Amino acid sequence: MPATPSSPLTAELWQRLSALAARPGAQNIRALFAADPARARHFTVALDDLTLDFSKTAIDGTTLVALLDLAREAGLDGFRTRLFAGAEVNLTEHRAAMHMALRSRADAAMQASLGGVWENASRIAADERTRMCEFVAAVHSGALRGATGLAFDTVLNIGIGGSDLGPRMVTEALTAVSGGQMRARFLSNVDGHSFAALSRDLDPARTLVLVASKTFTTLETMTNAHAARDWLAASLGEAAVGAHFAALSTNARAVAGFGIAAERMFGFRDWVGGRYSVWSSIGMSVALAAGWDAFEALLDGGRAMDAHFLSADFADNLPVLLALVGIWHADILGYRAHCVLAYDDRLKRFPAYLQQLEMESNGKSVTTSGAPVSHATCPVVFGEPGTDAQHSFMQLIHQGTSIVPVDFLLAAQPDHSRDAAHLILAANAFAQAEALLAGRTLADVQAEMRAKGATDAEIAAIAPHRVFSGNRPSNMILFRRLDAFTLGRLIALYEHKVAVQGFLWGINSFDQWGVELGKVLAGGLLPALSGAAAGLHDGSTTALIARFHALRGQR
Ligand code: F6P
Repeated sequence: MPATPSSPLTAELWQRLSALAARPGAQNIRALFAADPARARHFTVALDDLTLDFSKTAIDGTTLVALLDLAREAGLDGFRTRLFAGAEVNLTEHRAAMHMALRSRADAAMQASLGGVWENASRIAADERTRMCEFVAAVHSGALRGATGLAFDTVLNIGIGGSDLGPRMVTEALTAVSGGQMRARFLSNVDGHSFAALSRDLDPARTLVLVASKTFTTLETMTNAHAARDWLAASLGEAAVGAHFAALSTNARAVAGFGIAAERMFGFRDWVGGRYSVWSSIGMSVALAAGWDAFEALLDGGRAMDAHFLSADFADNLPVLLALVGIWHADILGYRAHCVLAYDDRLKRFPAYLQQLEMESNGKSVTTSGAPVSHATCPVVFGEPGTDAQHSFMQLIHQGTSIVPVDFLLAAQPDHSRDAAHLILAANAFAQAEALLAGRTLADVQAEMRAKGATDAEIAAIAPHRVFSGNRPSNMILFRRLDAFTLGRLIALYEHKVAVQGFLWGINSFDQWGVELGKVLAGGLLPALSGAAAGLHDGSTTALIARFHALRGQR
């Protein structure tokens, strides 16, 4: 697989890895276990309790050395230094990607460059955190109340993409069992059914609305923010609106234009990308619902992973190894999908969160210099909580024609008292990974059917359907407990994995031009749908608009 001229990967390294994959038996994971009795230990790394076991992949010692060489020779060390120094790694937008400063200590003095202007990112983040903390305390104590004098019992976060997925995922994970200090609700979809359904069980007098939007121009979010404003005003009067709204944004002018007072706006800077913003004021719903201590613990976890990523040798570095395993799968073995199975119902939204993080960051096909890439970039990422996934798409992962590597996530200790249920959950997680590895041979199936009294004809007809090829790869990410600290470590683990992969693929992980065209075209289509100018569209779109109008006219 030749490297593009601007890719940091050399063609020689790609070829070396491809040659390793092509060795006879190299992709036989079961044989790798047979050849190395200590394989599990050799291919497991940990940061305290947080353990990554990638032994159930077709990576042997030689391959691992080659992958680590790839990282070193590509200059990953230098990239990591530039990233943490706040250099403008987001080249198309002339910005640093300095979300790490949001979880740094106030005196860490991490710098970030925006269009060539440097600022003390740690200080800026810490100052805003102090304002957030005061706001959260005032809401919790009842010092800040709704217009009718009632204390807030619900926070409604209105945002989409990074302004929704991170805070929603974290809030749901951290309040699933405890219930949290306030109820949290999330409104992202512009589909009016979403607000209609949500507002049914909201009391406007007790609802605090957070309009979360980095740009404060996103059509979906602004439409929903206006819907919530109208809903509040209809119930409590126009004068009540100010007491019920706060904004989480970088756009002070647009926030003021919406009518939210400056002291109710919590900001962050353009060196924070939307999908990396849960650590910023965009995490306000987390702090309100799960509590300030939980929000701080989340940041502590992120900071612990930053320190590990920065200091650990690549051979012991969790984000680097996770990234290299992913590159081995996507580029060398050609696997085009990646599945994330959290055996933890509190992480229901984790795959959705990762979909944006991974696919919006690395779903790119030109290098940083604008040349087409000549290798695969981000695979399709999807997932569901285990064990639910076992009863839907796992059939394909076990027996389908595509090989889909899986990340399993599991906490050893549950936060409920039904330990027997947790053991069943854990048994299922381990069993799935084991089944993917071990598979089931035709001979085994035949023997079992024979032992159960099946006839030769039955065996011939049925046995092939019950064969599993096995040798299907997975990572196991195992940790003690899913608390806020560990969730912070997990998020930062994947953030850095994405950054490492983007760097090795030679692409910019920090812009997202691919979502722009749809936004522009939707704006252009609105007049046609509301009956004004038809506009010039392709034949299919024109015909569909006409049919849409016809159907709307029908009773
Ligand atoms: O979906 C595209 C996107 O630009 C994401 O990157 C971002 O997280 C989301 O829109 C929301 O943007 P904003 O926070 O500006 O409303």
